[in-house]
Amino acid sequence: MSHLVRFSVSLEKELLRRFDYRINEQRYKNRSEALRDLIREDLVVEEWQKNEKVAGTITLVYDHHKRGLVQKLTALQHEYHNIIISTQHIHLDHDNCLEVIIVHGKAHFLDQLASKLKAVKGVKYGNLAMATSGKELV
Ligand code: NI
Repeated sequence: MSHLVRFSVSLEKELLRRFDYRINEQRYKNRSEALRDLIREDLVVEEWQKNEKVAGTITLVYDHHKRGLVQKLTALQHEYHNIIISTQHIHLDHDNCLEVIIVHGKAHFLDQLASKLKAVKGVKYGNLAMATSGKELV
């Protein structure tokens, strides 16, 4: 286990009340664990901003009947094949497909791929979930 340090924090009563309300809603057992997660979240954002090697998932929902759409999505994924770890495709119903693409590599390339996929005409929903390689986090 890593070395724990205690420190005290001063903040406005109202801010603390709202923080406690939020972490209670999110089922945190104590403020320390909630604060750790907030710090980790911020460090992950920093990893992405600094273009470090990160991981993430891109989720897409689209109608596969849309002319040229599937070809465009496939062409883009081939263009970025070096950062794509795995792709899962689910046929949600007669028309709609859900695709989850797991990506790992330099943050800017992951961002680029997600933006390009989302921008393809006919994509109904596109989302990039920023995760981390986990190496810099405790
Ligand atoms: Ni499908």
